Amino acid sequence: SIVRRSSTAGASYVSRRGFASGSAPERKVAVLGAAGGIGQPLSLLMKLNPLVSSLSLYDIAGTPGVAADVSHINTRSEVAGFAGEEQLGQALEGADVVIIPAGVPRKPGMTRDDLFNINAGIVKSLCTAIAKYCPNALVNMISNPVNSTVPIAAEVFKKAGTYDEKKLFGVTMLDVVRAKTFYAGKAKVNVAGAQVNLPVVGGHAGITILPLFSQATPKANLSDEEIVALTKRTQDGGTEVVEAKAGKGSATLSMAYAGAIFADACLKGLNGVPDVVECAFVQSNVTELPFFASKVRLGKNGVEEVLGLGPLNDYEKQGLEALKPELLSSIEKGIKFAKEN
Ligand code: NAI
Repeated sequence: SIVRRSSTAGASYVSRRGFASGSAPERKVAVLGAAGGIGQPLSLLMKLNPLVSSLSLYDIAGTPGVAADVSHINTRSEVAGFAGEEQLGQALEGADVVIIPAGVPRKPGMTRDDLFNINAGIVKSLCTAIAKYCPNALVNMISNPVNSTVPIAAEVFKKAGTYDEKKLFGVTMLDVVRAKTFYAGKAKVNVAGAQVNLPVVGGHAGITILPLFSQATPKANLSDEEIVALTKRTQDGGTEVVEAKAGKGSATLSMAYAGAIFADACLKGLNGVPDVVECAFVQSNVTELPFFASKVRLGKNGVEEVLGLGPLNDYEKQGLEALKPELLSSIEKGIKFAKEN
């Protein structure tokens, strides 16, 4: 059978640790595109997360192997693999969080927008199934171009009558992870000390990615040139990996890490942990654009509060104005696709 479950030894581990008795509620997480470059390490990291009780791994092919492999790890969650569209409903049913890294990645010379046609269709069909089988789930969209796939998802959910703007997130966490790492390197502070913090706002492609280094903590005395270089490196972080992989895809391991921490933040919010704040691309009133990435407070219903941008310096203000036309056109492109297809 394609569905594999973890052994009963796993179940006794759960009760020994007391998860089953109420300290952490039952939570089902589904990964769509679980057999891919991001999907596999992301599935591994979600299997390590004690907040997950049921891990559902879906792809068009290859999931039985990934699920069997991951299911042998002796952590809390039960793992089930689903392959092919006829099993998508089962994969989604009862999901609290759905993470979507399905689609094709970039090759050298491609922009995220070049992926549009293939990934737009994949996202549309997956979101149609989400509306049907788990309309209340939080959706973490990783598939690129995020600036367009999130508006596509919103349109699909609106059409199905299930849209809740509090439950749809474009995952921009990798931009935050990169900005923190690059900043810590330049500022000569310890990134792993967990003190490095800074928001990345806007969107998730090229100049639409706007790291706010003026708000970074701990403060460092970096020159304007250094800030410009850090900003560019953050914006081009994806391309740096695409080129280094030379035709073998885009960021997968760092993306899996970023996706896993964002999903963990969503689960903590659902479980009522206070003050969970992360950046994500969400429906927004922060600017005149209908979707925008900024800090978001996560809670029991998903987005509890979309936080403002905070004080920007002149360089950041310019970056903000410069990104708006491209971001708006990517958003409109997504909406148009969803309406016409
Ligand atoms: P990959 O090609 O290694 O894996 C994609 C997986 O999606 C494959 O296993 C494929 O079978 C599956 N898939 C295709 N159509 C599907 C469908 N209809 N239903 C379910 N699964 C389906 O690609 P990789 O490297 O894992 O990248 C996946 C996506 O994530 C790409 O769109 C990429 O651009 C995006 N990405 C997003 C980032 C972000 O920061 N948000 C960072 C890096 C990549």
